Amino acid sequence: MGRRTHVVQAAPAAAFLLVFVQLLASWSSFAVATDPPFSCGGPSTAPFCDRKLPIDQRAGDLVSKLTLEEKISQLGDESPAVSRLGVPAYKWWSEALHGVANAGRGIHLDGPLRAATSFPQVILTAASFNPHLWYRIGQVIGTEARGVYNNGQAEGLTFWAPNINVFRDPRWGRGQETPGEDPTMTGKYAAVFVRGVQGYGISGAINSSDLEASACCKHFTAYDLENWKGVTRFAFDAKVTAQDLADTYNPPFKSCVEDGGASGIMCSYNRVNGVPTCADQNLLTKTARGDWGFNGYITSDCDAVAIIHDVQGYAKEPEDAVADVLKAGMDVNCGGYVQTHGLSAIQQGKITEKDIDRALHNLFTIRMRLGLFNGDPKYNRYGNIGADQVCKQEHQNLALQAAQDGIVLLKNDGGSLPLSKTKVSSIAVIGHNGNNATLLLGNYFGPPCISVTPLQAIQGYVKDARFVAGCNAAVCNVSNIGEAVHVASSADYVVLFMGLDQDQEREEVDRLELGLPGMQEKLINSVADAAKKPVILVLLCGGPVDVTFAKNNPKIGAIVWAGYPGQAGGIAIAQVLFGEHNPGGRLPVTWYPKEFTAVPMTDMRMRADPATGYPGRTYRFYKGKTVYSFGYGLSYSKYSHSFVSKGTKPPSMTGIDGLKAIESAAGTVSYDVEEIGAEACNKLKFPALVRVQNQGTMDGRHPVLLFLRWPNATDGRPASQLIGFQSVHLRATQTTHVEFEVSPCKHFSRAAEDGRKVIDQGSHFVGVGEDEFEMSFMA
Ligand SMILES: *[C@@H]1O[C@H](CO)[C@@H](O)[C@H](O)[C@H]1NC(C)=O
Ligand SMILES: *[C@@H]1O[C@H](CO)[C@@H](O)[C@H](O)[C@H]1NC(C)=O
Ligand SMILES: *[C@@H]1O[C@H](CO)[C@@H](O)[C@H](O)[C@H]1NC(C)=O
Ligand SMILES: *[C@@H]1O[C@H](CO)[C@@H](O)[C@H](O)[C@H]1NC(C)=O
Repeated sequence: MGRRTHVVQAAPAAAFLLVFVQLLASWSSFAVATDPPFSCGGPSTAPFCDRKLPIDQRAGDLVSKLTLEEKISQLGDESPAVSRLGVPAYKWWSEALHGVANAGRGIHLDGPLRAATSFPQVILTAASFNPHLWYRIGQVIGTEARGVYNNGQAEGLTFWAPNINVFRDPRWGRGQETPGEDPTMTGKYAAVFVRGVQGYGISGAINSSDLEASACCKHFTAYDLENWKGVTRFAFDAKVTAQDLADTYNPPFKSCVEDGGASGIMCSYNRVNGVPTCADQNLLTKTARGDWGFNGYITSDCDAVAIIHDVQGYAKEPEDAVADVLKAGMDVNCGGYVQTHGLSAIQQGKITEKDIDRALHNLFTIRMRLGLFNGDPKYNRYGNIGADQVCKQEHQNLALQAAQDGIVLLKNDGGSLPLSKTKVSSIAVIGHNGNNATLLLGNYFGPPCISVTPLQAIQGYVKDARFVAGCNAAVCNVSNIGEAVHVASSADYVVLFMGLDQDQEREEVDRLELGLPGMQEKLINSVADAAKKPVILVLLCGGPVDVTFAKNNPKIGAIVWAGYPGQAGGIAIAQVLFGEHNPGGRLPVTWYPKEFTAVPMTDMRMRADPATGYPGRTYRFYKGKTVYSFGYGLSYSKYSHSFVSKGTKPPSMTGIDGLKAIESAAGTVSYDVEEIGAEACNKLKFPALVRVQNQGTMDGRHPVLLFLRWPNATDGRPASQLIGFQSVHLRATQTTHVEFEVSPCKHFSRAAEDGRKVIDQGSHFVGVGEDEFEMSFMA
């Protein structure tokens, strides 16, 4: 293996960091490769090995050569070898939520390669509102996955990421894994991430069926509850309206498939309106494969087939569960349930061999698209990606950039931040979250290339940095407030690292409260009282927390949200604190007040119901007070926005023959988008040009968010809807122009109660920052 040099970009901190980094990197010098598993290496004449034939035909040939027992053996995530045909074992389950991880079964980071680039947890990366960054992260994952595989440390290249369920409820333990609460943004994240992982271009037609690695849109659909007051995700039956399904729960999956060309979908644990999603033919076959043109494989979540019988009682016998999922269109079961009960399901006549062949065809097609039936990968498209690509410096720089660009500045009174790099003589670093590198990784992570805690990074700027944990952990039921107060009062500056950890929010664990846990609030206020100057509060958490007390406390000068910022997160936080990076992230979720917990987490309705006091959910429908709103975030600069062009003339549908007006009970006149048709829709598109200026003295990256607003929220219209976003880098005082293409059919439309997309006649308002223009829609 070639030698690798690692240089971390934190200038003043770099010298001491290099020591860690080099220690951690030293294994790479003996990263000796073994052969990866593959088929068709010998002088085979079997059609399934013939690269000149269409993959469809090759998959059909292979399936036809398998015995019934062999076929059934392939229906679990651990698929054994079929040695007589030279087919090696395959592990379907690998994870790569924010970097190649060893959380599944297919990736082994315990050989010569022992780490991979660990990006921030997705919720923070999302806060950059930067699709190009999301795409690059996907690309790095695809490349590092191949590097690991080519080095003989992978038995599969199917990754069960991204998690694109809408972050519907702030208590959700896995909200941290998602791009947030907006379906448009989540759909965009899904599409570009998948394109990156699979080796496609960031936009445009997908022109190859080859897969660098396979990504999977999960969890299909309406899955966003772990365990709330005894209601578990396994037993939960999500009651979802057609309207909410059409404009909230399903759009990210539609985009993942249609725009991202995803090769995998995972059906979820929960039921939707009584039907387990893995057993829902309407969802898997009619909607995903039929309406959206999905042509990949569908896996169950782990043991999601077993629970259809064991927990939900939806299937009377295990064989019924097997039949339900195979007939619905699921292909592989994470777990052994289908492998165990498949033969008896055939014997009882509940399924036929054809049902199995259908699934196997999809499964072997994916393995072939990955190039695993093309002989020795050395001679294949991705065969030259070496182990030296894993933890490559450029990839690690991207992990740092992602953390920098995601961090959100929530409060900055009196210019508390940034701190001076030269004038801070002593600093107190307080809080359990300040000196724990693992905590920065969130969940579903692999071993990172480097480990640096926020405290260590701050020590690169200020020699006299004094640390006190103050609490035992995020739960903070054991505290040492006295010591924290003592150290805080003796230092020039105080930075507190508080928030949550994986004991508070994770898979299988939803929160019950939205405040900071235990004695954290008391600790923070006591330290703020004792400090010489207003203190800085850094929150490490995925889901939102109610920090109204800190927002209102003048002794707390600044609040920074840093999510779970990944392997370089400690460095990025220090760079933001000391002004080496100008924060530009924006919240991808609404931060609700504590009282929101009065809403049952099991209530899936997005729309408010004023009659019963139900407040609705997310910035699109929530009617109550917020602590911080979706899209909120400060900067060390100020930016101005104004529309330069607002489209030439109001879009008109005059001339579309026979377009029928639909009148709602509330009296709104609207038109069915499908009836308008693709061609007319295309003609209605217009550009909106926005002038953006950085009016500050610091360069910065700045997300420009375009929203649509309706005159009112009758008929279940959202209050507003994000319709476009771009991230631009602007030097101090620089001006630039950002162009959005506005498509009335896509952007002005809304879901009617029956789920149909309609456009209202009358006013629509397009807004950016403080500027807005009106567009009237007439037929
Ligand atoms: C697919 O399109 C990209 C440009 O988007 C091009 O670079 C690439 O060569 C094309 N691949 C094939 C197989 O045509
Ligand atoms: C660091 O954080 C991780 C993840 O939350 C946790 O498992 C571990 O116990 C923490 N370590 C310490 C020393 O608190
Ligand atoms: C603190 O909370 C943890 C988690 O709930 C619990 O296991 C532990 O017993 C508690 N410790 C004390 C001292 O209350
Ligand atoms: C709400 O807006 C729609 C669409 O512009 C309009 O048709 C309707 O009359 C409005 N309703 C009320 C109560 O203002």
